[in-house]
Amino acid sequence: MSARELIVSKIRDGTVIDHIPAGRALAVLRILGITGREGLRVALVMNVDSEKLGRKDIVKIEGRELTPDEVDVISAVAPTATINIVKNYEVVKKYKVRPPPVIRGKFKCRNPNCITNQHRESVVTSFVLVRGDPPTFACEYCGRYHTLDELV
Ligand code: CTP
Ligand code: ZN
Repeated sequence: MSARELIVSKIRDGTVIDHIPAGRALAVLRILGITGREGLRVALVMNVDSEKLGRKDIVKIEGRELTPDEVDVISAVAPTATINIVKNYEVVKKYKVRPPPVIRGKFKCRNPNCITNQHRESVVTSFVLVRGDPPTFACEYCGRYHTLDELV
C-alpha cells in the first residue's frame, strides 16, 4: 500500500473495494445500491496512484461485510476490483470480482420490445451469463445478448 492511500484511514470492520478503475467509484456505489442514507460510514478515494492500474478508485464501507453475490455485479463497471473483508483492522478475506452467473433486477434490457420494458408489466429483469470472454449476458425473456458495458 502506498503512503498516498493514507489520505483515508484504515477501517476497523467492513469491506474495502480496491483496484476500481479510476473514476468508477460512484458507479460502483450506485450498482451496490448504497446511497448514503443507510447510515453506513463510506469513504471514497478517487484517482490515487496504483502500480497495477496507473490510477484507481477505492471504496471503503465500514460496518458491512459484502458477500460475493452482492459484489460480483460491480464487475460490470470494475472488472479489476478486489474485495477485502476487514475484521478488527486486518484483511481476513481477499478475492477478485467475477461476472455473476445471473443478474436479477439491476439492469434494463436493451430490446425495447422486451416484455420487461412494457410498462404495464412489472417483470423483474434477469440476465444469464452465456459466454465468458468477454462476459456476455442473455436476457431471460427475449434472449437479447448484452455485454456488461451494454447493461450498465
Ligand atoms: N484497508 C483498510 N483498512 C484496513 C485494512 C486494509 O482500509 N484495516 C485497505 C487498504 O488501504 C487497501 C486494501 O484495504 O486499500 C487492501 O489492504 P491490503 O491487503 O493490506 O493492501 P495490499 O496488500 O496493497 O492489497 P493488494 O495486494 O490487493 O493490492
Ligand atoms: Zn429482454
